[in-house]
Formats: sequence, structure tokens, C-alpha cells
Amino acid sequence: MRISSAFLWTSLALSWGTYAQSSSVDAYLAAESPIAKAGLLANIGPSGSKSAGAKAGIVIASPSHSDPDYLFTWTRDASLVFAVIIDQYTLGLDTSLRSHIDDFVSSQKIIQQVSNPSGTISTGGLGEPKFNIDETAFTGSWGRPQRDGPALRANALITWSNHLLKQNNASYVTSTLWPIIKLDLDYIKNTWNQSSFDLWEEVSSSSFFTTAVQHRSLRQGAALANAIRETSVVADYTKQADNLLCFMQSYWNTAGYMTANTGGGRTGKDANTVLASIHTFDAAAGCDAATFQPCSDRALANLVAYVNAFRSIYAINSGVPSNVGIATGRYAEDVYFGGNPWYLTTLAVAEQLYDALIVWKNQGSITVTNLSKPFFSLFSSGISTGTFSSSSSTFNTLITGVQNYADSFVNVVAKHTPSGGGLAEQYSRNDGNPLSAFDLTWSYASLLTADGARNGVVPASWGAKGLTVPGTCSGNSGPTAHVTFNVNAETVFGENIFVTGSVGALANWSPDNAIALNADNYPIWSVAIDIPASTNVEYKYIRKFNGGVTWESDPNRRFTSPASGSSTLNDVWR
Ligand SMILES: *[C@@H]1O[C@H](CO)[C@@H](O)[C@H](O)[C@H]1NC(C)=O
Ligand SMILES: *[C@@H]1O[C@H](CO)[C@@H](O)[C@H](O)[C@H]1NC(C)=O
Ligand SMILES: *[C@@H]1O[C@H](CO)[C@@H](O)[C@H](O)[C@H]1NC(C)=O
Repeated sequence: MRISSAFLWTSLALSWGTYAQSSSVDAYLAAESPIAKAGLLANIGPSGSKSAGAKAGIVIASPSHSDPDYLFTWTRDASLVFAVIIDQYTLGLDTSLRSHIDDFVSSQKIIQQVSNPSGTISTGGLGEPKFNIDETAFTGSWGRPQRDGPALRANALITWSNHLLKQNNASYVTSTLWPIIKLDLDYIKNTWNQSSFDLWEEVSSSSFFTTAVQHRSLRQGAALANAIRETSVVADYTKQADNLLCFMQSYWNTAGYMTANTGGGRTGKDANTVLASIHTFDAAAGCDAATFQPCSDRALANLVAYVNAFRSIYAINSGVPSNVGIATGRYAEDVYFGGNPWYLTTLAVAEQLYDALIVWKNQGSITVTNLSKPFFSLFSSGISTGTFSSSSSTFNTLITGVQNYADSFVNVVAKHTPSGGGLAEQYSRNDGNPLSAFDLTWSYASLLTADGARNGVVPASWGAKGLTVPGTCSGNSGPTAHVTFNVNAETVFGENIFVTGSVGALANWSPDNAIALNADNYPIWSVAIDIPASTNVEYKYIRKFNGGVTWESDPNRRFTSPASGSSTLNDVWR
């Protein structure tokens, strides 16, 4: 067993030197992390070498301009990238990044105000997933809204704010950052309980990743508001954070994993949940299961369920023993680009495990529960439940086993990183060759955060410690408007008219749960429904007859609900 550069980290890393790390992973990361850092910065405007045309602070998803065209800026990807940059700056790892952060702040202040197909700043436009890199709206059809973006942006900017407060720079926080953060938090406060496309832009329902990052944003947003004496929002943010924490628990599947989406018709085993765990990691919260901390028994059981979903479906995983890392993708049913493993999802598994190691070493014990026993059995067969302190040999066996297991996922990525070190979005399930968008900014970010966690880098706490899950969950309808739907439709006897559309109040496009209209004024069919206020809504009428459903012809009908009061839609069946 060679102890190589692991020794260099001992000052940083919570007695890290006691446990040898894989020297091949050491060597890979030593070479790859500068490449990833340079690759990430190359994709940020205005001067990144691969992002010509991007405005200052704008993160392009990838320079790939065709097959697939990723030359756009997604709020999710950009915010996750800037979370890395802000962590590196605020933790003192790279003090050269400040002007990038200033640029990001300026760019987001502009982007927030750009009217787009999801709406204006006050009618839902913050849920727009992506923009052109010159900060104009993308107007093509897309899976919208996506409500994780505003939460991730707020999380990055709140971390930045907390740092600046410690630097006695409250005036900048109050005058520049807070107005941007507050728009995002108010949006989340009002809309978290409406359906949203998931982070993979495919399923419109509720999504665990979105709920978890929204919870974090309102929780730490309330704390920031308190700190800068914006106390009027604290109670509302806290109340909705409690509701979100409650709702998070409902995704748990008693088969032992967190279900990714409430819709979508899949098993629900999805990298969504692993990413949620690492992007809401708070070392101060220990192994708390309610916030799905990386070392919680729920998150460890979930990790096993998620990883095992890929064991038999990818050729490159064949024959790998169950306690050694494999290539993992978004979810087993994935068909996008042929449905392959992704670099960032494989690295997310490693990062969750490195995060867990940080906490176990810090607290000096590991607790094995019924739920996490199958996970720990990978490293100590026949292990019993209980708490193992750092003085026990079991603790050391488990730490070493988890460390090697985590490293083995990085090894998979290392094996399939091409010479030159560029990280694409995917690598082939059959031969491991890179696929889809090249130089994916998020891939680079994921390598940097996994490497940081392996080195014991602990991101700032966001207040996950000691939270109590409310006994009953409440939704948050927020302000509503009373909207009357009238449609002139001739029907045959026994045929009825229903309406469904893009919001929960319209049954989220479900023909089964569509809202029935009455024919009291036939041929005018009518129903009045409370719709979220100031929201862009799409809808259609449908006919049901003898168990069959007939939809109106395209395109979808659209309207924006009023801020309050009532409105009437007078339509003619088409
Ligand atoms: C506060 O931070 C902003 C943003 O980086 C910077 O422009 C400003 O000079 C800082 N002010 C002080 C007093 O440090
Ligand atoms: C753990 O599982 C065992 C055996 O299935 C059972 O007897 C025990 O009650 C469980 N313990 C807890 C805390 O659920
Ligand atoms: C709204 O909140 C309630 C209560 O937590 C939950 O049952 C429901 O699924 C939520 N709906 C959406 C679309 O998030």
C-alpha cells in the first residue's frame, strides 16, 4: 500500500493521513483537477477561451454547437458552477476568482429581468430554464418551467453573502445581492408546490432534487434575512421551508430509496437524489436523515439502490464485484444519446461517500442501522447494527472500505477520461468512449467538488442541523385568482367536456384527473377554478366519451392569470 500525495493533505484534512488513498486516483486527480478548473473557466464569458459571444459572467453549458447544441446558459448549471467558484474563493483555495463572481452577480441581475416564454419577472419568468448566451430569451419549445434554477442561484449567492458579511461588507449584500436573492426566494416561496420539470428536463411533476434545493434556499434565506434585518420575510420563508422539509420525506420509498419524481412512470432510482444529497451537504448536521445528509442511513441505502440499477445494464460494468465502483448514469430507463453513464453522476457517488467520510471522521463514530446495513456489509460482511467508535477495528475497516469504494468510482471516470483530460457529458455504456457534448462545464465542476470532498474540503454550513420535520405536511397554494373557463362545444349524448393543463389546479395535463365542466348553459360548458395568481398557464379542453379521450388540436391554449380577483376565458372548441 503506497501512501503518496495523501500526506500533503494532512494539514487540511482531518487526520486524513491515517488512511491511505488510492495512488492511481491521487495521480489522476492531481493531473485532472487543473484541467477541469481550466475547462470550467474557459466556458465563462466574457473572456473564456471557449465561450466567445457569452456576456460577462455567463456560463455556457458546453461549447458544443450541434448534436447536441448546448451553447446556451442554463440557470441550474451556471449556479452549480458558481457554487464551486464561490466555495473556492470563500474557503481561500483560489483568491483569483473574485471578478468572476462579480460578473456572475451582474449577469444574473440582468437575466432575472428578461421576459421569456415562462413569463415576466412577476409572472413566473424566473422558472425559465435556459437563455441565449447574449442574455436574451430562448424562445423555442422546451420543458419549462424548471424551479430548481432559482433555488440553486439563491444558494450560491447566499453563501457569497454570508462570506461578505464576515468581511464587513454588509452594504454590498444589502444593496446588490439581497434584491437578487429575494426575487428568487419569493418565487420559490410562492411556487414550490406547483409542478416543475425535473433537472433532466423530461418529467413534469414534483422532483426530489428540486424540493431539496428549494428547502435549503428558503432555510438559509431566512437566516440571511435575519442577519441583515430584513425580518419581514423570515416567518414566511421559515414556514415554507418547514413545508418543504415535510414534503421531502414523502419521496421516500419503503423499498429503501428516495424516489426521484412523483411523475414519469419509472422506478425512480435516479442520480437526481445523489446530487440532492451532495448539494445540500452540511457537515454540521451530521448524519441527519431528514435532510438526506450523505452519511445518513437513508442516503446510503439510496446510494446502493441507485448504483445497483446500473450494474447489469452497461456492458462496461460487467463482472465488476459488488464492492467496487461502476459506471452510473442518470437513471436506468434513460435513452437520451443511447442512455449512457455520465461523468458527473459517477463522480456524484464518489462525492457523497467522501462527504460521508468527512463527517464520520469528524464525529469519531459510525452508526449502522437496519437501513444502512446492506451498504456497510459491502465492506464488512456480517456486520451488525450499532455504533462503532473510532477506537474500534470495525470503524477502521469501514473507513478504509468506504474510502476505497469511493476511489473506485473516480477510477471508473479516470479510465474513461480521454488523453488530454477533456470531460464530455457522457461516456459509452459499451466501450467507455466520450459521447454527447464535449467540455461540459458541469462535468468539470463535478470533478472539482469530488476532488475537494476527497481532500476534506467542507463547504459552509447552511443550517441543516437540528431541524424538526412537521407532523403533517401542508402545501402552499400561494395567492390565487378565480378563473372561469367557458368553452362552446357541441357534444353528443353521454359525451362530456373537461379541462387540463400545466398547473396542479388543472391536474398537470392528466386526462384522468382533468376537471369536469358543466353544461348548464349548453352549448357553453363552464367551470370556475382557483389558479395560482400571476402565472403563465397552458391548457386544453378534452372530450370523454365511452371511455375514450379526444384532445383539442394544437397548439396549447395559453393565458396569464391575474394577480388577484377573477377573470373569464371564452373559448370555442377546436
Ligand atoms: C464588497 O464586495 C463587492 C463585490 O465584490 C466589492 O465590489 C466591494 O468593493 C466590497 N466593498 C468593501 C467595502 O469591501
Ligand atoms: C432491525 O431488523 C431486525 C430484523 O429484521 C428487527 O428484529 C429489528 O426490530 C429492526 N430494528 C429496528 C430498529 O428497526
Ligand atoms: C404540494 O404539497 C403537498 C403537501 O406537502 C403535497 O402532497 C403535494 O404533492 C405538493 N404538490 C406539488 C405539485 O408539489
